[in-house]
Amino acid sequence: MTALISKSDFPRNFTWGVATSAFQIEGAADADGKGPSIWDDFCRVPGAIADASDGNGACDHYHLWESDLELIADLGVDAYRFSISWPRVQPLGSGAFNQAGFAFYERLVDGMLARGLKPYLTLNHWDLPSALQANGGWANRDTVQHFVDYACEVARRLGDRVTSICTHNEPWVVAVLGHDVGNFAPGIKSRAVMLQVAHHLLLSHGMALTALRAQGCKSSLGIVLNMSHTQPATDSEADIAQAQLDDGKGLRWYMDPLLKGAYPADVLKHFGADAPRVLPGDMERIRVPLDFLGINYYFRCMASAGEPWDIKSSGNDITDMGWEVYPEGLTALLVRLHRDYALPPILITENGAAFKDEVVDGQVHDVQRQSYIANHIAAVRDAMHQGVVVHGYFVWSLLDNFEWASGYEKRFGIVRVDYDTQRRTLKDSALWYRSFLKSEGK
Ligand code: FCB
Repeated sequence: MTALISKSDFPRNFTWGVATSAFQIEGAADADGKGPSIWDDFCRVPGAIADASDGNGACDHYHLWESDLELIADLGVDAYRFSISWPRVQPLGSGAFNQAGFAFYERLVDGMLARGLKPYLTLNHWDLPSALQANGGWANRDTVQHFVDYACEVARRLGDRVTSICTHNEPWVVAVLGHDVGNFAPGIKSRAVMLQVAHHLLLSHGMALTALRAQGCKSSLGIVLNMSHTQPATDSEADIAQAQLDDGKGLRWYMDPLLKGAYPADVLKHFGADAPRVLPGDMERIRVPLDFLGINYYFRCMASAGEPWDIKSSGNDITDMGWEVYPEGLTALLVRLHRDYALPPILITENGAAFKDEVVDGQVHDVQRQSYIANHIAAVRDAMHQGVVVHGYFVWSLLDNFEWASGYEKRFGIVRVDYDTQRRTLKDSALWYRSFLKSEGK
């Protein structure tokens, strides 16, 4: 069932957008002086990427940016969320900046403005310069200052033109998948390292915001977290306790420092000796005012102390990533955050789904993706009716792209990419989004 929604259900100044990230679409991995990132390196590890692919070609957006901006403008969105590749503008992650790299993003941002699109910039969508990883990467406290210096330079060059600057995309993923599970770059497996990394990400976020404000940056400043709605699989005490812990590790571990200035005591106790080294003043440096909080929502989590919950038991659709489709979870999540925290305005910075698309006579009838997006937009509206302040919604993603460890096998785009020809084709979900954005009333 697809919800009946119209753009007029939302405030007039609500921001509608599409999102991408540099490593996933740009290609041109060593063009014009770009340095390598940890994802370039990780793709070379045998078995790391499902289809043994890499980001060298991707969607070749580095060369096709102009026609891609035409595509975005044609959808009728207000805004485009993109990320800067740190090693493209500063090949070693410290020291000299690369003029040619900055020139690309200046063309891109000016191209957005010329088409009436608001630039929403992300500084770290995971592609850390390899040279910093050689010195320990995010586990090394020196990386915090390097990130602040990089952020300041980006803001000096682009801050007068971008609507918004986000420090980090999904620190949980960088920390946990990159440094504990190890299935994402840089592929480390240590809980203690993971917690130190998470701390440094949060610290660098807070210190960057302070530095950007000190240099007069007028863009709206914030961070993007991935979040689920976590529920106990049954009402047994053990499952309820498990849900509390999972929510603590995934959500409160990031939200509490950012908005309350402290790590949650119950989770701190659970981590025991692995807890991060926190220097005096760090928690104050992390908790600085946010102009916005970005939320990436894809699925709910069912917590179980025993056997893992059987995802098929809910009867809900399952995406090609194996994620349950559960739009009600987005409403529940937003209402709960509004209850538990003094929130800044919320942006839904990512939401979307991978499905196996078929091309039939040059068209892609991606009914499931279309209804996924429509139902989640309706879920945002329902949360707003309950008092949650949401200022925008961005579809993930504009284009099919390099889906990290899944390679090119998983397609999240509302626009199909033929990787042999680099041809873009609007899927039905894109046509639907475009007509939704044109809708005036019911
Ligand atoms: C998020 C990432 C984004 C994309 C989607 C599917 O975790 O931010 O780059 O991979 O998931």
